[in-house]
Amino acid sequence: MERDSIPAARWLPAGTFAGEVALVTGGGTGLGLELARGFAALGATTVIASRSAEHHAPFLAEARERGWSAEARTLDVREPEAVRAVIEGVVADHGRLQHLVNNAAGNFVCPAERLSANAWRAVLGIVLDGTFYCSKYAGQHMLEAGGGTLLNVVATYAWTGMAGVAHSASAKGGVLALTKTLAAEWAARGVRVNAIAPGPFHSDGAKANLWPDDETEQRILASIPLGRFASRDEVAALGLHLCSPASAYVTGACLTVDGGATTGSAFWEPGQRLRRGEPR
Ligand code: COA
Repeated sequence: MERDSIPAARWLPAGTFAGEVALVTGGGTGLGLELARGFAALGATTVIASRSAEHHAPFLAEARERGWSAEARTLDVREPEAVRAVIEGVVADHGRLQHLVNNAAGNFVCPAERLSANAWRAVLGIVLDGTFYCSKYAGQHMLEAGGGTLLNVVATYAWTGMAGVAHSASAKGGVLALTKTLAAEWAARGVRVNAIAPGPFHSDGAKANLWPDDETEQRILASIPLGRFASRDEVAALGLHLCSPASAYVTGACLTVDGGATTGSAFWEPGQRLRRGEPR
């Protein structure tokens, strides 16, 4: 069955999003692509939006092959007028937008004391401003049309902090506050707003921007109690669940998907058995 060949989609009933429309920013690569594939496999007309048209091609090719209803739009989420135009365009073409995933992000490791104002602005602009603009315009439509879901992608360092990513952590912290605030404002009118917070997981972006060398990667791995990185589809599956009717009573929530990395158990080696009275 179509749904079963897309790992992120196989936990929800076939046709979960049939007849609905989903917009995924940054949907051409990484986690965004996995979420877009999941929505499409579960029946949604799925629109991906990202800055680079190059990033659109793999999803559109797969959609053609599998017979999904899919399209792509070029968008820099830092431009509010462009965001408004894309969302109005999706609604004009398809009649409705039920799901928005705010996945577009920018990140790199840089000590705070060396971060230029422009670099700070670039990441805050994409992550925090972009999430707000997309949420605002999609939200206006959803409130008027009688409901919808928003899914924001944050990171566990939104509340733990992390050395080297002052810009991204501050932006994700803001998105977490926005998630809860919009959930409170819009719940009574049928719009649910949730977030997922992945810990470190494998993606080309993470490898290139966050842990370029193997030693760093091994060190990060050693701090994850489940003893492995998440796969993209495991993270995407939880995002799809939050957008589905299976989560109809969930809003303002942030689901941590980090293999236990923020539990504090990294004090011991992952997998080490703790026995009463046994010296460490
Ligand atoms: N270290 C330090 N500063 C950096 C940097 C890095 N690795 N990458 C970008 N910057 C700085 C630039 O130097 C510039 O500041 P300056 O004008 O003071 O020199 C500022 O950030 C803006 O950079 P620019 O490339 O012009 O902006 P952009 O808007 O095109 O893109 C990013 C900014 C962050 C999105 C870009 O780094 C990027 O495309 N990253 C890859 C995508 C990504 O991060 N995905 C998420 C993976 S987890």
